[in-house]
Amino acid sequence: ASAEKGGFPSFMDKEIHDQPQAVADTLLGRMDPSGRLVLDEMRIDESLLKSIDKIIVIACGTAAYAGQVAKYAIEHWCRIPVEVELAHEFRYRDPIVTEKTLVVAISQSGETMDTIMAVRHARQQGAKVIAICNTFGSTIPRESDAALYTHAGPEIAVASTKAFLSQIVACYLLGLYLAQLRGNKFQDEIRMILGELQQIPAKIQRILDETAQQVTDLAIAQKDTESVLFLGRHVGYPVAMEGALKLKELAYIHAEGFAAGELKHGPIALIDEGKLVFIVVPSKRGRDSLHAKVVSNIQEVRARGARTVVIAEEGDEEVRAYASDVIYVPASPTLMAPLLTTVPLQIFAMELATVKGLDVDQPRNLAKSVTVE
Ligand code: G6P
Repeated sequence: ASAEKGGFPSFMDKEIHDQPQAVADTLLGRMDPSGRLVLDEMRIDESLLKSIDKIIVIACGTAAYAGQVAKYAIEHWCRIPVEVELAHEFRYRDPIVTEKTLVVAISQSGETMDTIMAVRHARQQGAKVIAICNTFGSTIPRESDAALYTHAGPEIAVASTKAFLSQIVACYLLGLYLAQLRGNKFQDEIRMILGELQQIPAKIQRILDETAQQVTDLAIAQKDTESVLFLGRHVGYPVAMEGALKLKELAYIHAEGFAAGELKHGPIALIDEGKLVFIVVPSKRGRDSLHAKVVSNIQEVRARGARTVVIAEEGDEEVRAYASDVIYVPASPTLMAPLLTTVPLQIFAMELATVKGLDVDQPRNLAKSVTVE
């Protein structure tokens, strides 16, 4: 078993360390010599894809958070409305699905019953379904019109890590492909974004090599904490929710992710002396940067006694003033940041569970794949 874990103490630890490779493999062979994005496995008619007027992403758990990240990118690149819905809610509310709807079903295992039932419902309504899946030949890709595989390799630990990052990458490839097909993006822009994606594996590796120890020390110091909040905006919002989910799943601690802008509308009442709050800070660069707004959120929770752990990009000195701890990740464009900022949150949850003596690969009450509705 220790050989299967590649010398790591758990599958989860190994899978966190597999992430540079997982992202690289999901990206492999997607660009032709002229810089065009190719999706060989796309079995849906091009003319049909050109005419779709809505995308609905259906998924559960971590895969649904990957879908939420993807919404920001796909709408930005393609100008097609994207809804993200939990698979088990989708088919019970009479959703509007037509022949012009493209449904994207995201599932690591391809066997989640809630997602399978949602796929069937969507196809009955005439929608085309693309599966984004990590398991070859599983039910969801078999029952879909096309399948885009994440090449993350087998994921054994119940809590999803590398599958999440490769799901985001696969969704981005789909978004870029649709943008290319529909002529929404210039070819050199698509090439540039693919180039940015290509730099992500090395950046994740730097987090694993240079930052993991700091995060581990923090988790050990916080082992008795009973409640943790996570704040983020834009793509940092689903990252905050994923950080909270990891902590619930692994360490059995109350944790919640919030959109930082929502803080003043309620969650700020939860802040008291010593409350641990993670804040995912967006880059300062770029138009419409939300950096200043999130920095003022750090200030607000800090002023009420919170212990603030700030995830920011290297070179961001402004966050230091209100941060109890700063965890720096390599700089990247806004839409790429989730592929980096998620990693310290995964490590924090794993290490906190480990110091509590819990089994990080097999958390209580959970299954890797939930095959009942
Ligand atoms: C279970 C697992 C989660 C996973 C979710 C969706 O609840 O414990 O880690 O995110 O199912 O699984 P799927 O295989 O469909 O991605």
